Amino acid sequence: MKRIINNKNIVLGVSGGIAAYKSVELLRILIKEEANVRVIMTKNASEFVKPLTFWALSRQPVCTGLFETVDDASIRHIDWANQADAVIIAPATANIIGKIAHGIADDALSTFILAVTCPVIICPAMNTNMFEAKAVRRNLERLKSDGHFVIEPESGELACGTTGPGRLPEPEDILDRLLFYLSPKDMKGKRILVTAGPTREFIDPVRFISNPSSGKMGFAVARAAEQRGGDIVLITGPTSLPDPNNVTVVRVDTARDMALAVFDHMKNSEIIIKTAAVSDYRPKEPCGQKIKKGKDELILSLEKTQDILKEVGRRKKDRILVGFAAETENLEAYAEKKLVEKNLDIIVGNLVGRPDSGFGVDTNTVTLFYRDGTKEAIPEMQKDDVAHILLDRIIRIGSHKQKPADTNVL
Ligand SMILES: Cc1cc2nc3c(=O)[nH]c(=O)nc-3n(C[C@H](O)[C@H](O)[C@H](O)COP(=O)(O)O)c2cc1C
Repeated sequence: MKRIINNKNIVLGVSGGIAAYKSVELLRILIKEEANVRVIMTKNASEFVKPLTFWALSRQPVCTGLFETVDDASIRHIDWANQADAVIIAPATANIIGKIAHGIADDALSTFILAVTCPVIICPAMNTNMFEAKAVRRNLERLKSDGHFVIEPESGELACGTTGPGRLPEPEDILDRLLFYLSPKDMKGKRILVTAGPTREFIDPVRFISNPSSGKMGFAVARAAEQRGGDIVLITGPTSLPDPNNVTVVRVDTARDMALAVFDHMKNSEIIIKTAAVSDYRPKEPCGQKIKKGKDELILSLEKTQDILKEVGRRKKDRILVGFAAETENLEAYAEKKLVEKNLDIIVGNLVGRPDSGFGVDTNTVTLFYRDGTKEAIPEMQKDDVAHILLDRIIRIGSHKQKPADTNVL
């Protein structure tokens, strides 16, 4: 499945706030996602960023005024409104919010919005006092009740020197919400448990055994499932990735913590997707104090950790269970063995140790192995796209299952 905004017509409205510079980056990532983006700027926005910058990135004419004459004799604000699949206003000033809330149409952007019938996503960004002003609160409520989507600003230090809500979210977060608003809600109501990241098995208080898993694949699955309406719990080992929107995140360190959290949360899950790279072994007798450099040789004795996937497979009942196999060789044989031994519905196999696939990178090249013995090779693509394909296949399996999951009994 191609990303939901691929080839979609997105109109980016930019109004005159200090965060207008961030809309340049937003445009860049929308173009990277292969959306067709056109930009409408208010006159005041062009005091902050020149239209030329948006033109250079979008390679489309930038609309800055209602009465500009254009080559194709179109009435731009009407034509663009008819063709748009989604509109994002980022940043949205207090002024444009007020105008949209009251149906005022006195410039290109506000007039265009009145003609639009597709989803409109408004990203307010302003000084905290302005954002908390009764008039702005009232106008934002009105926008929501008119059916527009409002992405709440972040809290933090603002350009004006104050601290509080009012900061434009990062472009990646705005893209994530755009994907949410445009995605079909085919996982609505589904309770999905995802695991991600590595675990750490401590040798002493300052050293541990781990692996290079970044958590990116599991986070991508959690994000994709949330965008499609699922109710997600993400249990993750240590990673620097931020919590995905609307996802309950449980952060753990060790394989033991991961096991406890998984067994607890699986009770309420219908679908379990285990991407975590859990340590197979841990130090048998971790040292309570930092081990001092002394002897020339130090022998570490390891013991097996619990096989979480196998145990979940044993308890799974009607749940759909997906595992991942990261291998350095004989992928097919190992993956097929694991599929059966751990009672999985799908195993996602990938060869690690290649620059474009596996640990740490944003892309993955995987093969899906199914219970009926079939397999499906997926070419190299973004982990977000792999996640969506996996969810498509899970939905297909779910539609073939006869009974609803008996999820409350272990
Ligand atoms: C330096 C500077 C920064 C501003 N930043 C913001 C802002 O972040 N948010 C906002 O709502 N207004 C901001 N304003 C005020 C708007 O530019 C002003 O309300 C203007 O009328 C908005 O016009 P527009 O909505 O047509 O773009 C700023 C003004 C200046 C001079």
